[in-house]
Amino acid sequence: MRIGVLTSGGDCPGLNAVIRALVRVVERTHGGSVVGFRNAWQGVLEDDWEVLDVARCRGILPRGGTIIGTSRIQPYSRPDGVDLVRRSVQRHSLDGFVVIGGEGSLSCAADLVADGVPCIGVPKTIDNDVVGTELTFGFDTAVSICTAAIDRLHTTAEAHDRVMVVEVMGRHVGHIALRAGIAGGATMVLVPEVPFDIDEVAEALRRRHAGLSFASIVVVAEGAEPLPGTLEVPDHGVDEFGHQRLGGISQVLADAIEDRTGIETRVTILGHVQRGGSPTAFDRVLATRLGAAAAEAAASGSWGVMVGLQADRIVEVPLGEVTKRRKPIDLELYERVARPFFAS
Ligand code: F6P
Repeated sequence: MRIGVLTSGGDCPGLNAVIRALVRVVERTHGGSVVGFRNAWQGVLEDDWEVLDVARCRGILPRGGTIIGTSRIQPYSRPDGVDLVRRSVQRHSLDGFVVIGGEGSLSCAADLVADGVPCIGVPKTIDNDVVGTELTFGFDTAVSICTAAIDRLHTTAEAHDRVMVVEVMGRHVGHIALRAGIAGGATMVLVPEVPFDIDEVAEALRRRHAGLSFASIVVVAEGAEPLPGTLEVPDHGVDEFGHQRLGGISQVLADAIEDRTGIETRVTILGHVQRGGSPTAFDRVLATRLGAAAAEAAASGSWGVMVGLQADRIVEVPLGEVTKRRKPIDLELYERVARPFFAS
């Protein structure tokens, strides 16, 4: 058995733990070998690779980032891309690829499977928006980082009687905002799934700060949106991969809160700090289980699936079922334990 592996899309703590587990099971359990392609599909298209064996993967379990690099380059962005991928399979005598990626990369893997290239997907993203798995590795780490930041913001907010707007990642979904908001005791949590009413937000904060001295923490996902026609958010266009450029919702929100309430309001954008550093113990375990499961799936010829977590079991889900849509937050959880604390 000879497997190609690549890490694709935005990085995420736990990628190296997946690679390590995959390599160990392929090499030690099945006597096979693994080729790591650098910078995602770019390495396949340009034949930039290295052999990954147990020795090369020693010590990488707790390391953030990815030892083989990543990019958002996809084979379908160039006319000869799929042919180059097929040639790579032949040149390296590969049984297929293990693609560690988010929704976009897994969609690409599903298209390649349809075009005859064997792929197995491993879900990865701090956003936790991949369907077919209850959790993605990296999410727990990001939530821990955001919660620690919110804890720190509480004390400085209290000292100044301010509103602190904390912007966290979450382009299409609010999983990080919701979990970190609950864990950090946020005053309110604004998510992309539920458009917010700025007047309701401002009024709730004004009431909370009236009379007594209070600090408020507003956690906002970067993709959160105001109700149509209520607040202008600057449009930053799309990047070269067609993703909307985000950033700015927290400042727009803070300005609107200050204008409407007169309460001093500050902004903290946590940005890529959320994706950096060492994965939590939970993410290391999940990533290791998924890497090992991907190796077993390849050994049994289960191409065209994604390995995922369901009810604490690692399962195989057809790749076609998990792509082209995203897993939203649990609205019941939001309504039960985030909404009731809305500025109370
Ligand atoms: O998809 C994961 C993610 O972390 C999003 O939450 C965020 O919008 C995006 O990646 C940012 O990616 P980058 O700045 O690396 O292009």
